[in-house]
Amino acid sequence: MSICITATGLYTPPYSISNEELVESFNQYVDKYNKQHEDEINAGEREALEHSSAEFIEKVSGIKSRYVMEKEGILNPDIMAPVIPYRQLGEEVSIMAEMGLAALQEALDEAGLTGKDLDGIIVACSNFQRTYPAIAIEIQHHIGMEGGFAFDMNVACSAATFGLSQVVGAIKGGLGKKIAMLNIEICTAHLNFRNRDSHFIFGDVATATIIEDLETPKGFEIVNSRLYTQFSTNIKNEYGYLDRSEFLAAETAMYPDITEPVTDKLFLQNGRKVFREVCPKVSEIISTHLAENNIESSELKRMWLHQANLNMIDLILRTVVGKNADKSIAPTVIDEFANTSSASPVIAFHRHNEGLNSGDLTVMCSFGAGYSIGSVLLRKV
Ligand code: COA
Repeated sequence: MSICITATGLYTPPYSISNEELVESFNQYVDKYNKQHEDEINAGEREALEHSSAEFIEKVSGIKSRYVMEKEGILNPDIMAPVIPYRQLGEEVSIMAEMGLAALQEALDEAGLTGKDLDGIIVACSNFQRTYPAIAIEIQHHIGMEGGFAFDMNVACSAATFGLSQVVGAIKGGLGKKIAMLNIEICTAHLNFRNRDSHFIFGDVATATIIEDLETPKGFEIVNSRLYTQFSTNIKNEYGYLDRSEFLAAETAMYPDITEPVTDKLFLQNGRKVFREVCPKVSEIISTHLAENNIESSELKRMWLHQANLNMIDLILRTVVGKNADKSIAPTVIDEFANTSSASPVIAFHRHNEGLNSGDLTVMCSFGAGYSIGSVLLRKV
């Protein structure tokens, strides 16, 4: 028997925002803010905000546009966030489940399966719109899967490779033979669009991957994985269910020393440090993983890397494969999608897995907050 990726599906949100559109809205907000605080800024009591620039964004990240679930609110300088109405749980399909279902249906169609054929569903991503019931169980219900299991898991941007490893473990542990792993990301809802350093980084998307235990392998065989985590606060999103309690700690007299609630809890990163610390570690993990499997890096025919930043992808490719590595080995989708967190290496795989020969060795690698890094070795059947 061999455990194979037999199909993938991609849900692309209905709207796209170009760098130019995003920057225009950001700069309107900056002008308004600076005018509103003109006296304090002139008196040196407050720092003026600076404009963003579309050229800067493309140069430092490779991003040209991003897909979003809601555009109007994000581009309104008085709102600067996606505006998404609540849906009554159980009465309507949740927005994350809706996105995941569309990606899953495409993947099932490609695999020639229906929801009834699935034994398990894992939704692996960075943010969940609620704590429970799991989005995966809602998807299990709507896709018509009977029996089996479904659960959510979160390993931030590395969730896809960690999710694939969980699927392999579940199959080897006898929990099922056909399992779907979904990455559903509404990253724009965790992004602070007023933060010049990061307002351009993320986009929304959903992907689905079908993994099957087969007597006659097809697609890409999952050879094995290597996972790595190390605590870092350089990328964080501290939003959580204790927010109300923490807010009360600042509001009530119970903790007289706490006077201000912590409100800046959206996505925050020290981008330079992340770049410097994560790139070498990713290259080390992939290289160690290859060495453990007695594979020379020159044998790698494709690397589907997390799409965080074009320069990171280039650097990792060069350090793993060599200075003159052919860039087509590590295909990119970041220009069109921006960083879509967990889903990004799966989009790269979905769009660019053609032209390989039977036996070719490839790697899917994700990395991000935690820090977390996952490397999955795949062999083209
Ligand atoms: N528009 C114009 N200029 C900007 C800007 C913007 N939106 N944001 C920052 N700048 C300026 C800064 O003020 C700074 O100016 P200075 O040199 O005069 O001080 C300069 O551009 C460089 O800023 P810096 O933040 O150091 O840029 P960078 O080259 O490190 O690129 C990132 C920023 C975030 C793109 C880059 O660090 C990165 O990709 N890091 C890894 C991020 C990542 O992968 N995170 C993982 C998430 S899963």
